[in-house]
Amino acid sequence: MPFNKYSKINGNYFPPGDKSISHRILILAGQAIGKSEILNLLEGEDVINTLKAMSLLGVKFKKKGEKYFVFGLPPGSLFEPKNTIDVGNSGTGIRLLLGLISSNNIKVSLIGDKSLNKRPMKRVTEHLSKIGATFKMRKDTYPPISIKGVGNAVPLRFDISIPSAQIKSAIMLSALNTNGTVKIKEFKSTRDHTENMLKSMGYNIKVKENSTHRFIEMKNNKELKKIKYTVPGDPSSAAFLITAACLKPGSKLIVKNILYNRTRIGFLKTLKKMGGNIKVTKKRKVKNELIANIRVEQKDFLKSINLSSNEIPLQIDEIPILSIAASYAEGLTIFKGLKELTVKESNRLLLIHKNLKKIGVKSEIKKYDLYIYGDQNLKKGAAIINHENDHRILMAFYIANLICKKNNIIKDKSCVKTSYPKFFQDISRLSN
Ligand code: S3P
Repeated sequence: MPFNKYSKINGNYFPPGDKSISHRILILAGQAIGKSEILNLLEGEDVINTLKAMSLLGVKFKKKGEKYFVFGLPPGSLFEPKNTIDVGNSGTGIRLLLGLISSNNIKVSLIGDKSLNKRPMKRVTEHLSKIGATFKMRKDTYPPISIKGVGNAVPLRFDISIPSAQIKSAIMLSALNTNGTVKIKEFKSTRDHTENMLKSMGYNIKVKENSTHRFIEMKNNKELKKIKYTVPGDPSSAAFLITAACLKPGSKLIVKNILYNRTRIGFLKTLKKMGGNIKVTKKRKVKNELIANIRVEQKDFLKSINLSSNEIPLQIDEIPILSIAASYAEGLTIFKGLKELTVKESNRLLLIHKNLKKIGVKSEIKKYDLYIYGDQNLKKGAAIINHENDHRILMAFYIANLICKKNNIIKDKSCVKTSYPKFFQDISRLSN
């Protein structure tokens, strides 16, 4: 049966490996002496580009069956690559690699695709310049980038004013080869996988939090230990199917082995507040990350919601799919403070607004706040979706077929491979 307004979501589901964790385990295992092993690595294009980048920097990888083996190099000993590193579509890839390279005495050129070439990098390089690294960028902020790292990085205290795990993690990776103590102050709403992984690898890192901020201290007086790591399921990918199940009363979805880190599950809280019938079972901690199973058994339609700007970083990647939920929920939904959404793989704020209009949903943008006027009527649909090859916009508006009278038209679906290559396979298996 085609995926449309009659479909419900049913079955058992293992989401693909988490993208943020996949990038980080390739990089950090690449800085540990010995043979690390990774299972359930996300084989999306973004992550594979990070793997290729690490290979060009001298780390050896081998794949046997489902398992990746990593033969790392200690911090400070990366090779100067002969060729330019192409990170494709990945903002996480380029920003984390800039951090890692900045404290190695090598020169590297990095390029990306059309979308990445429009994304600001100064937010990372302004910090990394302070340790002594130098950068050349288009208009002083956009890729392509050439970087000259330093072997004697200065240990500093950083205060990060944008809530961004990519900025924080770039600085943390630069600290791996910085003598002395590096101190970071940042918003506690950003994802903390780099911290958790470093702890699991025996690194000297201290993390404290108050009600709003996180304080990190890193000393590079202990080596990174090799690790055996199974990447948990990606909540940001699972969000498409979980939201789809919440949208359609009568759905029953069981999600297994999903990452349940506080900084990543804001969307689950939001869906619950909207009336999503979501139960969490089998919570367990593995390698400092919380993992769980989730059961969605939807009986009623969803209600509208208001999200304040400080709740947004906890669900920044899920706003596109939550916008679809809001469209089919009775009443006015307001998402406040979406500035960061304008500098993702596309200007997501604008694309959500434009595509909602196309499918027949009224929305407004007021400064950086998004207003969505939802109801439980099916939308007209039959729209040509403008996704600008942004994977999450495409997947969100594909799920929108569930709430439209006529299916929408999506040309060129290939960008799902950046984060969720099996998206359409999972949808066909779980929808009926
Ligand atoms: C990510 C951090 C977030 C997120 C991105 C992945 C990461 O970006 O949107 O998809 O893995 O660190 P920001 O750090 O720019 O908020």
